[in-house]
Amino acid sequence: MTVTGPGGVGKTRLALQAAADQLPSLSDGAWLCELAPAADQETMAQAVAAALRARPRPGLSVADSVVEFLRTRTALLLVLDNCEHLAAAAASLAADILRGCPRVRILATSQQPLGVGGEQVFGLRPLSLPPPDAGMAAAGASDAVSLFAQRAAARRDFALTPSNVAAVGEICRRLDGIPLAIELAAARVAAVRPAEIAALLDERFRLLTRGRADASARQQTLQATLEWSYALLGHAERRVFDGLGVFPGSFDAEAAVAVAGADGLQRWDVLDGLTSLVGKSLVAEEEGPGQTSRYRLLETMRAYARQQLAAGELGRLQLRHAEHYAAFAEQAGLEVAGPAQLEWQPRIQRGASIARQARQEATEQGIEILVAEFLATEATAWTAAGDYAAARLPAMEAVEVARRVQNPAASAFAFLTAAGAIWPSDPQAALMLIEDSLALTRAGASDPVLDTALMLAGLIRARTGNLPRALAALQEAMAQQHADGDRLLLGITLQIAAVGLAGLGEAEPAAVLAGAFSAHFPPDISAVPKDEQMWIGEAQSLARRALGEAAYRAALARGAAMDDDQIVGYAQGQYRRLVAPRAEPGAQASESPPGPGAADPPGMTVLPRQDNVPQ
Ligand SMILES: Nc1ncnc2c1ncn2[C@@H]1O[C@H](COP(=O)(O)OP(=O)(O)O)[C@@H](O)[C@H]1O
Ligand SMILES: [Mg+2]
Repeated sequence: MTVTGPGGVGKTRLALQAAADQLPSLSDGAWLCELAPAADQETMAQAVAAALRARPRPGLSVADSVVEFLRTRTALLLVLDNCEHLAAAAASLAADILRGCPRVRILATSQQPLGVGGEQVFGLRPLSLPPPDAGMAAAGASDAVSLFAQRAAARRDFALTPSNVAAVGEICRRLDGIPLAIELAAARVAAVRPAEIAALLDERFRLLTRGRADASARQQTLQATLEWSYALLGHAERRVFDGLGVFPGSFDAEAAVAVAGADGLQRWDVLDGLTSLVGKSLVAEEEGPGQTSRYRLLETMRAYARQQLAAGELGRLQLRHAEHYAAFAEQAGLEVAGPAQLEWQPRIQRGASIARQARQEATEQGIEILVAEFLATEATAWTAAGDYAAARLPAMEAVEVARRVQNPAASAFAFLTAAGAIWPSDPQAALMLIEDSLALTRAGASDPVLDTALMLAGLIRARTGNLPRALAALQEAMAQQHADGDRLLLGITLQIAAVGLAGLGEAEPAAVLAGAFSAHFPPDISAVPKDEQMWIGEAQSLARRALGEAAYRAALARGAAMDDDQIVGYAQGQYRRLVAPRAEPGAQASESPPGPGAADPPGMTVLPRQDNVPQ
């Protein structure tokens, strides 16, 4: 069955209510597939597969995989919401499903019928209207007037009275009883009386063809109502509203600020704009996780907002949208390694299952380079969540595929990712992978970040006791991070270097770096995992015991007085003093062995040298 009607008449709401009503008799449930964001037949099938959590099957298209998935269900309702922009694609998908899965029913919403065999079309009519001369009782009994009264009462202390009922009836008739239009008008009650709203609408609608009651006339009514609401917005509000059209789904206030807040719009302009747009029913507010608000534009509003954006502006906003979520992903990457890990778990499992789906698709299509990339992405997600056991298999598969493909960038990425996933259980294999990755990166392959690879190499070596080589890698990472101005990673690297120095019996430099670190580096460094923090703490107690309390404190204070240049210079000076002179002539600064006997031991942990430690 397809529910048809103009935008805002209530198709989505009706479909959801109908699905909810039938739920008790549907043993396999009712599933909502939001198709508005789909751009073509392929992404439509993917949206349906994602909603059903149906995995693509080897050798089958996504659409066929959906049919296969549904074939064995005994009672299931599929709600395909917003089919209008892809009616033909939706029709062919629906036809495939109905043919292959006799016990699945489809409830679709669309501005026009899909045109599929066996389709029942339910033309949704607008809300019932009161006749022009209706009295209080009759007007109040009409659906349109009671929706207006209900929505207006939610905005302000409003009640239908004998003196305003005629104006409210007039508004509802002007708006053809379209619920969305009525909601927009009712939202104005906060500022304007019903009689004034009726007059404003009258002015606006005079040009519209009246007296027609077909769907296209109602579409015009809604368009005019949107124009009217939009025209009443302030300049900043309008710009915020337009910008929000970029979001395909729901979003939080921070995302709104990041995307819509630019070109002279301040943070507060966006936040105020958001609140007032909610007040005017142009943006819907819903409850997000942890008592926060999330926002969403109804499909009709989103389409209208996007119409307002000039083509170039849309592109720029989409870029900012992408940048915001990329930065969000990076932040998440740091937070999952800290105390907030558990809060991120569900999202990461979702970050991982999307990668798995993508990998299956790439496998089906035989695009090996993408297979390697998605396997590595999945491994990264698990590693970030601290689930090394889950990360191991995709990580090793990524390496295998990358070795087959031999593409330098994909290999460098896969090797580094795999190293990050396996190092706690297999440090030697991880180091070999990092070396391979570094060699590719140094030869010009893009993707992996040199300083991250070096930092990881330094960490693994420090933890497995190869301290000279750990310091070699760390000092090179440090130089890069300092040049990039990446203080977060620089701080982490300095902390690891301090452990290395303590392990070499260099108690004073270890304390100087620790002092510099705690005085200067960002507080969100707590993203360092717990056992690493303990390891760092132990190295510092070693240094403290070696120096004695007074000298230890003096060294901390010396470090705290340094600026970034001095700290990095100091750490590198220590490296040169302790390690570099022993390097073979002509050897590269870092990943080549700094001297005979410095090769990585096979996974053993060497105890720190005790020479300088007083008993
Ligand atoms: N019968 C109704 N009673 C109350 N509100 C309604 C009704 N039908 C629709 N609405 C409201 O009108 C707005 C538009 O409805 P929606 O279902 O999104 O329309 P469509 O899908 O046809 O574009 C929504 O805010 C919805 O809650
Ligand atoms: Mg809809």
